[in-house]
Amino acid sequence: MKFRAVTGMNDILPEEARGYQFVEAQFRAAVEAYGFRELRTPIVEELGLFHKSTGETSEVVQKQMFLLAKEGESLALRPEGTPSSARVYIGNKMHGREPITKWFYIGPMFRAERPQRGRYRQFHQAGCELYGDEGPICDAEMIDMLYRFASKLGLSDVKVLLNTLGGPEARVAYRKRLVDYFTPLSDQISEHARERLVDNPLRILDSKDPRDQEASKNAPVLLDCLTDADLAHWEGLKAALDRLGTPYEVDPRLVRGLDYYTRTCFEVVTTSGNIGSQSAVLGGGRYDGMLSSLGGQPTPAIGFAMGIERILLALGDRKYEEPSLCFIAPLGEAAGLPCLELATQLRAAGIWTELDSRGNSLKSMLRRADNMGASVCLVMGEDEAKSGVVQFKNLGKHTQEQIPQSDAVKAVQQALAETTTITGQEPASTSGSQT
Ligand code: HAM
Repeated sequence: MKFRAVTGMNDILPEEARGYQFVEAQFRAAVEAYGFRELRTPIVEELGLFHKSTGETSEVVQKQMFLLAKEGESLALRPEGTPSSARVYIGNKMHGREPITKWFYIGPMFRAERPQRGRYRQFHQAGCELYGDEGPICDAEMIDMLYRFASKLGLSDVKVLLNTLGGPEARVAYRKRLVDYFTPLSDQISEHARERLVDNPLRILDSKDPRDQEASKNAPVLLDCLTDADLAHWEGLKAALDRLGTPYEVDPRLVRGLDYYTRTCFEVVTTSGNIGSQSAVLGGGRYDGMLSSLGGQPTPAIGFAMGIERILLALGDRKYEEPSLCFIAPLGEAAGLPCLELATQLRAAGIWTELDSRGNSLKSMLRRADNMGASVCLVMGEDEAKSGVVQFKNLGKHTQEQIPQSDAVKAVQQALAETTTITGQEPASTSGSQT
């Protein structure tokens, strides 16, 4: 019997992992420059945490949780990172430790969805959460950071969709207006929308069902229900984005699928690369009510998460270059130990080195060096081993010379530095660089 990966959960092979490393390294660099620091949390949490925060009426909690059966405990694989981050913030009394907390996280999330392109059951998110600042400038700064990040990655056709969901007061008023609007239309909307009419009528607005979309066409917009304070926040956000020149589109129908958002919500969508029809590569917003609803001090909060797989699809068929490599080919038994020693010296100098000690023919070793994309190959036969020299092959320039073994590290360093200037890549870096 052959085992396969679980549907919707993908193995990431080394060449694909380079893409993840590239996006993650770019993300870290971008958000660390804004003062976000890394938070790592377990992938398993108590189920109740998600019920209380992600929300009972969200699709994620209603249909997509992976539950773990454990006697006496109700656990779940995390479908998103925001609830865990809030739990850590409250548990560590961050409120009393610093006025503003900025965290980022990168890791796998789990949602039992029907898998399709860009939608998986295990996927990876890179996200940020910011606590302690309720002002619109903070929202604009985050949205601008994301826009710059997406543009720097080279995504084309990037759109920032922006909306406000108002505070609790506006939501109550809006909810009532939606119920009044949709109730007479209840025989024209989907079964799912009829259920939402009872628990969360806002969600009808982002239904994909054509009947719901048709019925939503003339639905009241939330902007009309905003309080003065909500309105001032919304206007402040737009003014800050205008000042920065960050392009955005106001989308009054953007409600997002999670229950906790208040005021600002946003998505970055693109049709770039292989992503197919317009999809969200990231989404987020303000959730000023979550911390107190989880038993913490009332604390304003805003955050976002981006789907790394979606970013990779949007980046298209790029090749993520492997770091420069030195290949060592010993020929004959006497060359084995001097080559092993040489490999150790090269690695100690930070050079990625592959030693092929199987005793194969030169031809097959050179083929392997080529397949691995090595820049340099050191060949040592029995005679060279005895006389303390080695054949230095520069595979890029197609040159070969004999050099003393004691000069090998320096010579390889020099040759790799030249490769670096050509490709702009760090020779001994662990993060994937991109051509
Ligand atoms: P979300 O919109 O559910 O928000 O997910 C954020 C991003 O994760 C999406 O835009 C998408 O790129 C990616 N994503 C979501 N589900 C999948 C999936 N099944 N397969 C592949 N990619 C997926 C959140 O998760 C919130 N926690 C964001 C947030 C942080 N809001 C405030 N703070």
